[in-house]
Amino acid sequence: MYNKDLMKKVENILHKYGYQMSHIIQILQDVQVEFNYLPKEALKYVSQRLKMPMSKIYSIATFYAGFSLNPRGKHLCTVCLGTACHVRGAANVLDRIEERLGIKSGATTPDKLFTLETVNCLGACALAPIVVIDGEYHGQTTVNKVDVVIDKYEKKGS
Ligand code: FES
Repeated sequence: MYNKDLMKKVENILHKYGYQMSHIIQILQDVQVEFNYLPKEALKYVSQRLKMPMSKIYSIATFYAGFSLNPRGKHLCTVCLGTACHVRGAANVLDRIEERLGIKSGATTPDKLFTLETVNCLGACALAPIVVIDGEYHGQTTVNKVDVVIDKYEKKGS
């Protein structure tokens, strides 16, 4: 049995794309915008309605880095650990963020406010070390600056 609310939301998305398998990426993108990740139940429903094997949907969902199969927090915090950022202290910045949020990289805070991730170069090395939150770049981040940045997003709340 599907959750009625979830089913309705996914149904609206499928309807928007004319129940076309060829639009599967856009469908999954919309599902992710709706739920902030790709719930298994939503993927099952898509699979059933489009008559598309779950294995195929999973292979798409895992191929694209932008998709997440796990619940994510309201704010996505990404710490760059590429070479330029690393030599300028990114590991210490990450340590401080992990300490502050009480989670390790790859996890989401219990209040679902933050998800913490790392990447290997964001292509903006001149700003190293970089922390990106919700697409907003915070360059030359120091351990001391971390609290100011996190405070700002905590105030925005959930
Ligand atoms: S190494 Fe961090 S942006 Fe390039």
